Amino acid sequence: MSLKFEIQPAANPVSEQERAARLMDLGFGQIFTDHMAVLHYDLAKGWHGARIESRANFSLDPAVAVLHYAQEVFEGLKAYRRDDGGVNLFRPDANARRFRDGAERMAMAPLPEPVFIEAIEQLVRIDRAWIPGGEGSLYLRPFMIASEIFLGVKPSAEYIFAVIASPVGSYFKGGPAPVSIWVSEHYTRAAVGGTGAVKCGGNYAASLRAQAEAMDHGCDQVVFLDAVERRYIEELGGMNIFFVFDDGSLATPPLGTILPGITRDSIIALARDSGTRVREELYTVEQWRADAASGKLKEAFACGTAAVISPIGKVRSASGDFLINGGAAGPVAMGLRKKLVDIQYGRAPDPHDWIRKVL
Ligand code: PLP
Ligand code: COI
Repeated sequence: MSLKFEIQPAANPVSEQERAARLMDLGFGQIFTDHMAVLHYDLAKGWHGARIESRANFSLDPAVAVLHYAQEVFEGLKAYRRDDGGVNLFRPDANARRFRDGAERMAMAPLPEPVFIEAIEQLVRIDRAWIPGGEGSLYLRPFMIASEIFLGVKPSAEYIFAVIASPVGSYFKGGPAPVSIWVSEHYTRAAVGGTGAVKCGGNYAASLRAQAEAMDHGCDQVVFLDAVERRYIEELGGMNIFFVFDDGSLATPPLGTILPGITRDSIIALARDSGTRVREELYTVEQWRADAASGKLKEAFACGTAAVISPIGKVRSASGDFLINGGAAGPVAMGLRKKLVDIQYGRAPDPHDWIRKVL
């Protein structure tokens, strides 16, 4: 299925001079482009009204379902400026599939994958001047909200899908410098049968108390343990996690209650391409601490679209702190990071066909 997008360019886009000034100071998710993509769904018409239009406030009735029961899913992916001036998307088909799967889990109307990709491509094309050069990128945030006006608890009969875009630099203030992680021993993120594998806003709302606790302890991110035994490492508030061992192998927690990260999947493929053994297996926080102390664990790193690959230097918890690799970035994390970003920016061959050229 494809839909024709009506394109209504912004009447008052940000001036070139002002845009250049805003692009000087990127951070993450603080500045936005001139346009957005919007589509509507209802039972009678299905998906309809596809538009690229000026980024503007939504007008929502206070009784729309998303405001009460959080029926919502979102995605995150980036557009990268190549040295030749063109623009790459990285695995947008994987985001489209995850978005569709997530919508199904949340009892929402699935958006056809080609429409998801078309909305993103149209937005990237019209806002191409906002894609930063250098190591910056354009973070794309597709999302879908339940927009039926009804207070009963049942799946909404109406939805709004939109894509907004934000020029971004590094997610963490220190760039690729090692981050510190707080182990949440009290709060959990996801249980079997729940929504841990879905990118729904409710998961993030539920994680914020633990993230605040992490920040209170001077940490950048929280790592969650499994909800049953409170021992097995699952993932961070907004990233997956990998461990690097002294025999050169990698390990990462198995899928199930964690988000099936596209960066995680790409790292597994890149590592295996170069002959590295990668295990998707359970790993306890006690073992993590013991392996860091004995030297069996060489590195750990966080990964995700926003974080790319960020080495973990320090782990803190109520049971005590420990360092990984003396708190420094390790060669495996930094090597994988370079491999991945070189593909994303079109500086290296793309053996898995991950890149989609938009321009
Ligand atoms: N886990 C969580 C909870 C996330 O929010 C993200 C970010 O999207 C990830 C993992 C990494 O997923 P991806 O690599 O697809 O961005
Ligand atoms: C992403 O990496 O796309 C996310 O959604 C994670 C969030 C921390 C920004």
